[in-house]
Amino acid sequence: LPMIGGSASAQTWPERAITMVIPFAPGGPTDVVGRMIAEAMGRELNQNVVVQNVGGAGGTTGTARVAAAAPDGYTILLHNIGIATAPTLYRRLPYDPVTAFETIGLVTATPMIWLARPGLPVTNFAEMIRHVRERGEAVNLANAGLGSASQLCGTLFQASLGVRFTTVSYTGSGPIYPELMADRLDIYCDQTTSASSFVTSGRVRGLAVTTAEPMAQLPGIPTAGQAGLPGFEIGIWHGIYAPKGTPTPVVMRLNQAMRAALADPRVVTRMNELGSPPEPVERQNPDVHRAHLVSEIARWRPILQAAGQFAD
Ligand code: MLT
Repeated sequence: LPMIGGSASAQTWPERAITMVIPFAPGGPTDVVGRMIAEAMGRELNQNVVVQNVGGAGGTTGTARVAAAAPDGYTILLHNIGIATAPTLYRRLPYDPVTAFETIGLVTATPMIWLARPGLPVTNFAEMIRHVRERGEAVNLANAGLGSASQLCGTLFQASLGVRFTTVSYTGSGPIYPELMADRLDIYCDQTTSASSFVTSGRVRGLAVTTAEPMAQLPGIPTAGQAGLPGFEIGIWHGIYAPKGTPTPVVMRLNQAMRAALADPRVVTRMNELGSPPEPVERQNPDVHRAHLVSEIARWRPILQAAGQFAD
């Protein structure tokens, strides 16, 4: 890794607040995870880590902003699996995720859950599938834009049913919930980190989780496999990135602060409650993160290409 910026500044870093870009709107799962980690990293670094929500274009707007930022450790990105699907989905992306960033480490893996508006006339996941299959393009499926985790889930769902819905894109889950609760959108696949509170309070209906086993945190909700779609399992992962060329000592210090955040008992408890425990320590590592990013891009490319007509 290059030593741009000189070792003196790397030694005194951080001398001011650090901006953590979340490439989605406030109130969604990336924001929930990012704010928790930013606060705990700030405690470790003795500086504020300030969250900046830069939503738009399925997370690619905020990601592009960090790719173009000065490689000085003062602008970092927290993103999800979408960083590995966007290169297949966008013909012209203003960055290559593999070469534009220093990987800092993997943060957490998060399940997803299929949600329905309160008034959708179904009582379970199998009925939802029947209902939406019959209605096709009359169904409004929300997502957080092309290249988001929710878009990936929606794409796989449509491909496995062989149906195309009308997709409605937002800048993140945050602005989707009011529409879903008001019965203006039909269905949405979100991460449990933001969905849990809406489901347990009954404001939206949780129909099926995308895990292999039911989740203790969401009692009574079956897996998609149990409820009608065998093999429909998706796990979303999150990582932290700094612009390429960020000095190695700063990368290592960011990694150390991230590890401390993921070991903070308050953070661990909350993450477990949300069904999104910290990654195992051996995965909280820049090299493991980079290898994972590369393999995820390769893993999803043929799947997304095969689902092509459902890509947006
Ligand atoms: C997504 O990728 O769908 C996002 O996680 C949405 C969000 O964080 O708001």
